[in-house]
Amino acid sequence: MKQLLMILLLATGVWGSEGMATFKQKCASCHQLYVPLSQLEENFMRQDNKLLNLKAPTVNQMVYRLKNRIGDPNGDRDMHLMEIESFLEDYFQNPNKDKSVCLPEVLKFFETMPKMDLNDEEFESIVAFLYAYDPKSYQNKTLDYQAFESAKQQAKKQDKMVMIFFTAKHCSFCKKMERNVLSDSEVIAQLDQDVVVVKIDTAVQKSPIAFTPTMTPTFVFLNPQGKELYRVPGAWEKGDFLQILKEAKSKQKTYKSKEK
Ligand code: HEC
Repeated sequence: MKQLLMILLLATGVWGSEGMATFKQKCASCHQLYVPLSQLEENFMRQDNKLLNLKAPTVNQMVYRLKNRIGDPNGDRDMHLMEIESFLEDYFQNPNKDKSVCLPEVLKFFETMPKMDLNDEEFESIVAFLYAYDPKSYQNKTLDYQAFESAKQQAKKQDKMVMIFFTAKHCSFCKKMERNVLSDSEVIAQLDQDVVVVKIDTAVQKSPIAFTPTMTPTFVFLNPQGKELYRVPGAWEKGDFLQILKEAKSKQKTYKSKEK
């Protein structure tokens, strides 16, 4: 009966987004949402995980294996969902690398997952999220720039930061970053998860914040209430930019805990 309810909610997409929130809260500190296969291969097969320093399998790896190695992938869909659900239920209670469906070549870089204590609702929403996860929604995506006011509203609603990308028409480093870093699928997935992005061309647009940066590119992170948390001038390579995102996130966490 529980399953039936879940399938219904899954079909309506309700738990897809709720599951994403639970995932971010409980799992995202170790499991990244999406990394392209080519990069995973490079990372694990040639660079001993030193390229990405992953702490756990990424969700695209995980979901692929769950769907193909648990139960009967070609059987009845609802039945398959139940099979995956019971695998997960057991795995969260008794994580054990011997039971993992992850590739041994990849698994060797990881510790064993800690036991996950989830209440029924969290558990169901996570299962629904994993089952509905579609790597295609992360591939070939472009950054979705928002106008500042709607970005602020969205950030508040989704408890994300606003990231303002200050650029200028003749800034070649800005263009280079847009081409090489801000269009990278892993970077986009990470930005999607943590921030709402605003782009301001300083030559033609008014800055929405005090202390407009004079240098471009500059990245300014605001908390959901619009308070500035972090600002970083300069053009960056992908690895450094991902690090900057992490840094911004940890500043938001510190700020939040001070608030309480
Ligand atoms: C502290 C880090 C950490 C957290 C938090 C965490 N995991 Fe994991 N997880 C791991 C590691 C490391 C592995 C790989 C080793 C293993 O299977 O134990 C793993 C493995 C898994 C596997 C098995 C994958 C396979 O291929 O067999 C699943 C499924 C999974 N995690 C789901 C989740 C979900 C869902 C959450 C959130 C509720 C979560 N994990 C939270 C670290 C974590």
